[in-house]
Amino acid sequence: MSPRRIIIDTDPGQDDAVAILLALASPDEIELLGITAVAGNVPLELTAKNARIVCELAGRPDVKVFAGCEAPLARPLVTAEHVHGKTGLDGPVLPDPTMPLQERHGVDFIIDTLRAEPPGSVTLCPLGPLTNIAAAFRRAPDVIERVAQIVLMGGAYFEVGNITPAAEFNIYVDPEAAAEVFASGADIVVMPLDVTHKALVTRARNDAFRALGTRVGEAVAQMTDFFERFDREKYGSDGAPLHDPCVTAYLVRPDLFTGRRINVEIETGSDLTRGMTVADWWRVTDRPENALFIGDVDADGFFALLTDRLGRL
Ligand code: BDR
Ligand code: CA
Repeated sequence: MSPRRIIIDTDPGQDDAVAILLALASPDEIELLGITAVAGNVPLELTAKNARIVCELAGRPDVKVFAGCEAPLARPLVTAEHVHGKTGLDGPVLPDPTMPLQERHGVDFIIDTLRAEPPGSVTLCPLGPLTNIAAAFRRAPDVIERVAQIVLMGGAYFEVGNITPAAEFNIYVDPEAAAEVFASGADIVVMPLDVTHKALVTRARNDAFRALGTRVGEAVAQMTDFFERFDREKYGSDGAPLHDPCVTAYLVRPDLFTGRRINVEIETGSDLTRGMTVADWWRVTDRPENALFIGDVDADGFFALLTDRLGRL
């Protein structure tokens, strides 16, 4: 099978970083056409910088990185330094990037790529707020039907929320963008907190990254060391949840994941539940299915894949 051709849309973020590394370590399954940065975990200037730091860590300064939107469609930006640290990539000490940021706007890159490539051949992989994707769909509605699939990290059903009692961070930051993407008619696969909270970096899994004995293995161990303190304190969990790598792992080994095709809609109005993914997991409405909502992952298989692939960088 030829590799899936993808655009990663991201706000790195330690877990975004690991997702990008997994993609770059999997050339037989994934061809990365470019990375678009979006404001989210930290402001755009930092996410655009962090994406390039990660590419250089992987030895891939040739990857095209674009800066996209610096604020959500209709609201001020909410960031998550309390989780990811001041830089967004706290943990390892990594050099500033020397590779250039592309001049084109990230939204233009998404539109141009979808128009230039054969219909149904490009998959979008959003790992942050959905601002860039919604902006592309607003500006160029013709590209929507050209998207092969959108595989995204965001939302929750059983886990409900992590930034508010009702909402997951990526959806909460730009609920209007999320509502538009979920209503777009594109084929969507969702990695919600319900699955990412099962992908925990336990001590043994962290040791396995470090035992790779490579720069990448050490950096990933340091990132997850830093990132885990937040979830340990908040949830009493066994380690850092690797949210975003679930997206790129799904592209390589979809058999590790199970879910249901259901209707998912986004709350944009209520102050109390804004950004909630109203997921009809029990199919109690007749609203049409618009997403494959993943509910479970073979966590041991996921970490075996991740450790093996990171070892190739
Ligand atoms: C999501 O929010 C960010 O903090 C992570 O990078 C992930 O994409 C989890 O809610
Ligand atoms: Ca992210």
